[in-house]
Amino acid sequence: MLKILVTGATGNVGQEVVRLLLLQNCHVCAAVRNPTSAQQILGNHVDCIPFDFTNPNTFVEAFQAVNQLFLLRPPALANVRQQIAPALNAAKLAGVEHIVFLSLQGAEGNSFVPHSKIERYINQLGIPATFLRCGFFMQNLNTTHQEDIKTRGELLMPAGKGKTSFIDVRDIAAVAVQTLMAGGHQSRAYTLTGKEALTYYEVADIFTSVLGKPISYNPSLFKFVQHMRSSGLSMDYILVMIAIYTTARLGLASEITSDTEQLLNRSPITIRQYVEDYKQFWL
Ligand SMILES: NC(=O)c1ccc[n+]([C@@H]2O[C@H](COP(=O)([O-])OP(=O)(O)OC[C@H]3O[C@@H](n4cnc5c(N)ncnc54)[C@H](OP(=O)(O)O)[C@@H]3O)[C@@H](O)[C@H]2O)c1
Repeated sequence: MLKILVTGATGNVGQEVVRLLLLQNCHVCAAVRNPTSAQQILGNHVDCIPFDFTNPNTFVEAFQAVNQLFLLRPPALANVRQQIAPALNAAKLAGVEHIVFLSLQGAEGNSFVPHSKIERYINQLGIPATFLRCGFFMQNLNTTHQEDIKTRGELLMPAGKGKTSFIDVRDIAAVAVQTLMAGGHQSRAYTLTGKEALTYYEVADIFTSVLGKPISYNPSLFKFVQHMRSSGLSMDYILVMIAIYTTARLGLASEITSDTEQLLNRSPITIRQYVEDYKQFWL
């Protein structure tokens, strides 16, 4: 039976990848830092194997007899050479046959982002791979921005009037599972976006209509920095977020592709559907 190892299994995308893989005929293993708490999150049908990208002692057991790897770069690990490459070397040594890597929209044209370095390193190792270059996650709105929306009725991000082609992580996970289970996706890269690009003014209107309470959009960079600082976030993290929202402000996050629709044979989830499904996060 196909053995699939999922990294980032307790996170936004990884949890959904595990949930969908459990519906398939395969052996699902979650590579996690804390197997006890991961088991509680993921349930008893998943093998939770100790794994830490920064601890090479965990690699041999985790990659043993693994055919396929779902690779997710934890957001805090930005030094690819030191923090991601050693695990990839171990995957190669263990004979992993295929990697599905969650990458970033535009990674092919931006050699500075860690995702681009990881793509190149996987190719250099010669491990057959599929790169899922994802747009901005809808689920950032019920994680990073949840409190602002819930308590102050405000979408606070310095994205100006730029449009974003948001994608739902449930669609990303569905594509990941398809590319892991079906043949023919090796040496391919897909750019996964939703089917519409919206400004945050439009997103705020959708929130207002679905939640039945006023949600406004505030694009002030000054307010954003002030608020993030007062929430205790580090300046490094805030700068990364500003860079991401500046990309959107400049219109660079608005590209729409048909990859998600073609791979799933259905329309991607819309932001209205997402807000309806996640309503309880903001009420
Ligand atoms: N957010 C977006 O809009 C967006 C768009 C495109 C691409 N991406 C990319 O998507 C990825 C983030 O995905 P996500 O939101 O699903 O992640 P997430 O929810 O932040 O979860 C991160 C996962 O990594 C695990 N992890 C953290 N440090 C680890 C370590 N040292 N060793 C092993 N596992 C570790 C965490 O496990 P624990 O339970 O142990 O903490 C958790 O399962 C990033 O690479 C990001 O750049 C994001």
